[in-house]
Amino acid sequence: METLTIRGGRPLRGRLAVQGSKNAVLPILAATAAFPGRFALSNCPPIRDLAVTRALLEGLGLDTEEREGVLYVESGGPVGTAPDPALSGRLRSSVLLLGALLARRGEAEIPLPGGCVLGERPLDLHLRGLEALGVRVRCEGDRLLCLGRPAGGTVLLPYPSVGATENLILAALGAAGPVRILGAAKEPEIRDLAGFLRACGAELRGAGSSCVRVTPRPLHGAAYRILPDRMEAATWLCAAAATGGELCLTELRPAQLRPVLQVLRRAGCELRETENELRLRGRALRAPGPVVTGPYPAFPTDAQAPLMAALLRAAGSTVIEETVFSDRFRQVPGLRAFGADIELAGRLARIRGVDRLRGAEAAATDLRGAAALVIAALAAEGESRITEAWHLDRGYGRFAERLRSLGAEAEAEENQI
Ligand code: UD1
Repeated sequence: METLTIRGGRPLRGRLAVQGSKNAVLPILAATAAFPGRFALSNCPPIRDLAVTRALLEGLGLDTEEREGVLYVESGGPVGTAPDPALSGRLRSSVLLLGALLARRGEAEIPLPGGCVLGERPLDLHLRGLEALGVRVRCEGDRLLCLGRPAGGTVLLPYPSVGATENLILAALGAAGPVRILGAAKEPEIRDLAGFLRACGAELRGAGSSCVRVTPRPLHGAAYRILPDRMEAATWLCAAAATGGELCLTELRPAQLRPVLQVLRRAGCELRETENELRLRGRALRAPGPVVTGPYPAFPTDAQAPLMAALLRAAGSTVIEETVFSDRFRQVPGLRAFGADIELAGRLARIRGVDRLRGAEAAATDLRGAAALVIAALAAEGESRITEAWHLDRGYGRFAERLRSLGAEAEAEENQI
């Protein structure tokens, strides 16, 4: 999808089943390369990041096939050690293949676009953790080489990085002895990876806490159902809140959305939840008080941009502090085109509620930022055009169609080549 045209001002109304989690399925797919097996994954979201990951796995020698909504992966044949550089560069989660291939082959090589970042952000935590397990990490030109079967031992993560925790869990599957990861990230997607690995026979304890223990043992294939996507759910909730709509989300786990629900309640939304269903009724919104993003169970950074967009017309002013990523306010110039009043100061953003938003043209810069622009467009009067809308395809399946199913006037234009 190149451009998304939206005629705003209509409250979103209806019922929607939440898709499978992007951030759960990508590490689980990486895990299928770590040991031989046949896997059947259900509830996979129809998103571009998954298609790119499949292509990466196929390039390494795995077979993948989708039949009747189930993704089958077969990893019993020979598996390469160097994922395709062009595809890897399109996906940050391709770094998880390092851990998987080290477990499987004791060797892995990934490209380093933009030169060597060894020992620095953004992969320092992954690489130092692997080194703590005895893996040799070397930078050669624009490639990163990791060599050696991981040893057992304890790794201490100074920051609970989601990707580093997942990479270390994957590397530990092929380690010579038990591995303990201290300071691990606690995100539900890590628990889902652990659930998948346990279904494959892994001895893995503590996922979801800051101490994860993996005892290597022979693993096998399995069937597994991917967790619902709490970030997709947060996006739809913010969209319904921004338009004063009424939404019933099904097939989700509201407990994993607690900090988002708390903020929406403070902003005046009425929310009712059961174990796997959530109803939101939008009202005139008010500023909910300060919001600070952080590692789980704090407010998720992935929901920050959609929430900001939902609060553009909320009475009063809201300060959002982004503590996880340093460049996660990239949606702000686009939101200002709709008439939003947002002041930025480093990691802080102050949103002052305005009475009305007007339709505008704005270019998406990233996945969640793109969702924020859509939410502003839905709440704005008149027509809006979101360009670079392909960012949405990375993480939201059938986005325009799902918007329309909730009563939005939204038209997607594909790239004309
Ligand atoms: C994952 C999610 C992403 C989410 C993020 C935080 C996937 C595919 N992506 O990304 O949607 O926004 O968690 O919840 O699951 N950092 C370092 N050095 C490292 C690794 C990370 O400094 O070696 C920094 C990052 O630059 C960032 C912070 O740590 O500032 C958090 O990153 P991390 O938790 O690793 O996020 P990802 O796993 O990349």
